[in-house]
Amino acid sequence: MFNSDIVKNRILIIGANGMLGQRTVDFYKNKNQVELLTLSIEDLPVFKGADYISCDITDRDKIKKTVYDFCPDFIFNAAAYTNVDKSETDRETAWKTNVKAVEYLAEASRVIDAHMIHISSDYIFDGKAGPYNEKAVPNPLGYYGRTKLASENALKISGAIYTVLRTNVLYGIADSRPDFVRWVVQSLREGKEIRIVTDQINNPTFIDDLVQAVSKVIEFRKTGIYHVGGKEYLSRYEFTIMIADFFKLDKSLIKPIITKQLNQPARRPLRSGLVTLKAETQLGYKPCSIKEALAKMKRELNL
Ligand SMILES: NC(=O)c1ccc[n+]([C@@H]2O[C@H](COP(=O)([O-])OP(=O)(O)OC[C@H]3O[C@@H](n4cnc5c(N)ncnc54)[C@H](OP(=O)(O)O)[C@@H]3O)[C@@H](O)[C@H]2O)c1
Repeated sequence: MFNSDIVKNRILIIGANGMLGQRTVDFYKNKNQVELLTLSIEDLPVFKGADYISCDITDRDKIKKTVYDFCPDFIFNAAAYTNVDKSETDRETAWKTNVKAVEYLAEASRVIDAHMIHISSDYIFDGKAGPYNEKAVPNPLGYYGRTKLASENALKISGAIYTVLRTNVLYGIADSRPDFVRWVVQSLREGKEIRIVTDQINNPTFIDDLVQAVSKVIEFRKTGIYHVGGKEYLSRYEFTIMIADFFKLDKSLIKPIITKQLNQPARRPLRSGLVTLKAETQLGYKPCSIKEALAKMKRELNL
């Protein structure tokens, strides 16, 4: 007799120590219909309660052996070289991590028919006409964006079963990696002035909402490209003011500036952001509001 309760999904979470990875591990580690293996480059995991392997995903033989040994139904790739500015100069590492490793994972996925879920970014767009839907034409401004676009293309031609979730500006609860919200709260509490750009506009994504989208992809086995972002479309400056308001902090310490004044090595898409209608209709994705997300952070992190 077939009993769906005892059919387990094997899930391999890659980049498990990262902001998104940690929270995805938290979501899956106590689910009894899931057999979980987690992997990241660091020697040890930052969490407890899940099997962990230390592995550099740019090591083709090792990553393929790991995949074949575990034989997952789903491979969730949250690992990446995420330093946008350093990607301009450390191009070799950025490409190896963000593109070559994705090719290796896709190769292994194809052989065992694992479904690969990969995270991409709004940085594949030039920020002239956001928010973008899934059909918008990419035109990355910087090297990081180029690697993320190339990772999507690598998946497209790999023959593997895959889903790409593009997201933008992650914030939320990741114990060992303070995010933008915690940085703002800590800086303002210490009475530090912070300079925040008024000309970068997007819909920041609460990490738990993205985890929800990943879980829906797994549940419904959906393939293709989906945009996953937050409910509100606003500038980074407006986002910061909302954080200060919510935590009752001194807003006069927040100084508006424009991106050019930061003189960063990598150009940023300014009018960016992602339209989430497809994820809402096909995955049942329901992002929470920024206020709801901040309330959850306040509760869970004791902020
Ligand atoms: N954060 C955002 O605002 C944002 C926005 C849009 C899209 N994304 C995308 O979302 C995904 C998750 O981002 P995140 O912010 O959670 O990233 P993160 O915190 O930087 O985590 C990435 C994880 O991958 C690990 N890693 C890096 N190179 C590796 C390698 N060669 N082998 C194995 N593990 C490796 C990192 O280890 P180390 O840190 O020790 O190197 C880290 O544990 C990424 O694909 C990113 O491009 C993020």
